[in-house]
Amino acid sequence: MKINENYLKLQDSYLFSTIARKVASYTAAHPERTVIRLGIGDVTRPLCPAVVRALEEASREMGTPEGFHGYGPEQGYDFLREAVALYYSSHGVTLSADEIYISDGAKSDLGNILDLFDADNRVLIPDPVYPVYVDTNIMAGREIVFLDANASNGFLPMPDDAVQADLIYLCSPNNPTGAVYNHAQLKAWVDYALQTGAVILFDAAYECFVGDGLPHSIFEIEGARGCAIEFCSLSKTAGFTGTRCGYTVVPHELRCAGVSLGSLWLRRQTTKFNGVPYIVQRGAAAVFSPEGRREIEENLRYYRDNARIMADVLREMGVWFTGGAYSPYLWLRCPRGLSSWEYFDQLLEQANVVGTPGAGFGRNGEGYFRLTAFGERGATVEAMERIRKMG
Ligand code: MLT
Repeated sequence: MKINENYLKLQDSYLFSTIARKVASYTAAHPERTVIRLGIGDVTRPLCPAVVRALEEASREMGTPEGFHGYGPEQGYDFLREAVALYYSSHGVTLSADEIYISDGAKSDLGNILDLFDADNRVLIPDPVYPVYVDTNIMAGREIVFLDANASNGFLPMPDDAVQADLIYLCSPNNPTGAVYNHAQLKAWVDYALQTGAVILFDAAYECFVGDGLPHSIFEIEGARGCAIEFCSLSKTAGFTGTRCGYTVVPHELRCAGVSLGSLWLRRQTTKFNGVPYIVQRGAAAVFSPEGRREIEENLRYYRDNARIMADVLREMGVWFTGGAYSPYLWLRCPRGLSSWEYFDQLLEQANVVGTPGAGFGRNGEGYFRLTAFGERGATVEAMERIRKMG
């Protein structure tokens, strides 16, 4: 028996597990301290009433002979696929419901989609980046080329004709930097992918934070249907981090070597996935109802206000930062020239605040630090006060 040795090339543990371990050992040693967590991007606002009602109703339905649902369609129920398609149309994107595949979240699909592509493909990944893109490709033994995202390109790297890649990851609004591509920049990526035959894996998990006419979806860009797959999730949009529901869009036109990627994805999902629970899909569909949209918008406003409060403190402190405007993440330069992990340790020990060290997102993240605006208001204000005092 041989194990997949690629796993041995991974760092010891997943970034957020490392942080959780460090925080757990600190709190065990100092049980009297109140630690405020602005590290992992986990939401704090409860599910909105429209979602709760739909979950309750669907649970009751499941307890009746007429309303009981066993195995569902692996790709999701039509009622949810159609609701998602309607949501896309509000951004001017026309999708057919059967191009939308319901999943238990973007993280799983971002990893699972790689089943469709040969291990010999070369992958282009911006750095810093959500660690899932890197780790899942290391697990598959794929060659990774990193693309520098830094303060000089506004953390929005553009295509480089000298770099050849088969798969390209883009995340906008970006995790961790909060940077957002505009239409012209995304068009340049789409043109590059069409020209080189690459496939763009577009992570839109934070699209609900976009404003001012910036693109919510890569499919707002002409030509994207021929070169992109989009991943999205209700985790951040509607507080589904613990409820689990997302969706992946594979357009009909998307073909590689003459094969439809949508049919390969359906084949993969029907074999390896039994779908998202009926009850959860009913809850998810309520997110797209008029009341649901109104109610989640209130929660999003709450997080945006948190981000504004945090940004004001950083500005007063004279700390350089980006993000926070169209994203729940603020990406700041560590004060006093500290490294990311040094600042992490100091913040934890001196201010009892947890953030995410930029270095955990890649080489270019060194010297930076990520704070999330998903905290509770009181805790967020208190955390920023402690950060201000620390200087
Ligand atoms: C993060 O903090 O980067 C995210 O919450 C992680 C995730 O969405 O999986």
